[in-house]
Amino acid sequence: MSQPVQFPNGFLWGSATSAYQIEGSPLADGAGPSIWQRFAHTPGMMHSGDTGDIACDHYRRMESDVALMRELGMQAYRFSVSWSRVLPEGKGKINPKGLDFYERLVDTLLANNITPLLTLYHWDLPAALDDRGGWLNPDIAHWFADYGSVLYRKLDDRVKFWATLNEPWVVTDGGYLHGALAPGHRSRYEAPIASHNLLRAHGAAVQAYRADGKHKVGIVVNLEPKYPASDSAEDLAAVKRADAYMNRQYLDPVFFGTYPDELREIFGDAWPEWPAADMDLIKQPTDFLGVNYYTRNVTRHDAANYPLKTAAVKQHATYTETGWEVFPQGLTDTLAWVKDRYGNPPVYITENGSAFYDPPTAEDGVLDDPLRVNYQKKHLRAVHAAIAQGCDVRGYMAWSLLDNLEWSLGFSKRFGIVHVDFATQKRTPKTSARHYSQVIATNGRSLGTT
Ligand code: BGC
Repeated sequence: MSQPVQFPNGFLWGSATSAYQIEGSPLADGAGPSIWQRFAHTPGMMHSGDTGDIACDHYRRMESDVALMRELGMQAYRFSVSWSRVLPEGKGKINPKGLDFYERLVDTLLANNITPLLTLYHWDLPAALDDRGGWLNPDIAHWFADYGSVLYRKLDDRVKFWATLNEPWVVTDGGYLHGALAPGHRSRYEAPIASHNLLRAHGAAVQAYRADGKHKVGIVVNLEPKYPASDSAEDLAAVKRADAYMNRQYLDPVFFGTYPDELREIFGDAWPEWPAADMDLIKQPTDFLGVNYYTRNVTRHDAANYPLKTAAVKQHATYTETGWEVFPQGLTDTLAWVKDRYGNPPVYITENGSAFYDPPTAEDGVLDDPLRVNYQKKHLRAVHAAIAQGCDVRGYMAWSLLDNLEWSLGFSKRFGIVHVDFATQKRTPKTSARHYSQVIATNGRSLGTT
């Protein structure tokens, strides 16, 4: 029987962004360069030579952007802090003006009744730390925890939700294995080390939070369910590898203190023995899990694909501009999997959204984006279905508030529910933003029935 959609009382509705993707002015007021500043300024790395030098100019337009969030009825805002604005060398001397920007952002959000969700690391490592080996240097666990403490001490009286890392899988896969993202390395030998140090840094930052913070701390992972292309033994084994690599590689250590066995098979001689003490450091109790969900993958065996030996099988379905299948059921399945495997932790959907083609300029203040509205509606219903099955989902952050720099794809992919005209910086809420405002105002009832 169909049921009216109704989210639990207190469900937190908001949107998300990250520092390098929206702020611009990356070197302003004493900030140090990040690896993305360097990467974007290296010829050939970015689509059309795009950079984050201006992006959405949010660093200078923060107040009006928060006013826009309020106008849309947002209850929460997930943003990230640029490590090298706060600590230009990555450690040591604090840059007061950098810290001040985030303090003003938090105060402006609170003055507008918007709950801040702060992410410490959304991929923009200080370049000075990359010069010391970046995520390959084991000392990074302490550098990261010390950076966290600077922020906890300054802002924990006002920020109640802290995330350590955003998507460690992407940091490693894009940054150290395949090289499409900063710092652009391609090494099967480096990837496991970077992953492990990311997880150690997460553990150390959670420990530091328990010393300096009083609220909630967690990690944000991207989860992409893997479905077998056939029931052949080869395809089923391929699914296990793909799932271990992308989904369990980070959550098993955080929740159980162990790595999935398949990683040894995938990385072969590049997979080291890890000290038991490291696994204890990683397995710190957390208060919530942030889940980023975009798509699923139908997986088959493919011996030619390095190092996973898997390939994706294209479906008869709608695909987004980033080539991702629209598959809302995957979100329900993912949340159910998290509940069953990891003991139903409190979950926030920290990102979900889609890039579809939108024109560069909005005409007469209108930007109609029916495919994005459809994506949003179906995924919100999928979240509701998971809650109805007993998943402890407590909030949803749309990715993204604004069209922004889609990393090495530059400004060519628009994920915003608010359109940005990059020539004028004019913001125009798309139909999807208006649709989302209605969902928020009715706590989901405007989504109709299931
Ligand atoms: C990242 C965002 C990115 C989005 C769309 C996520 O992997 O956290 O920074 O823009 O997906 O690709």
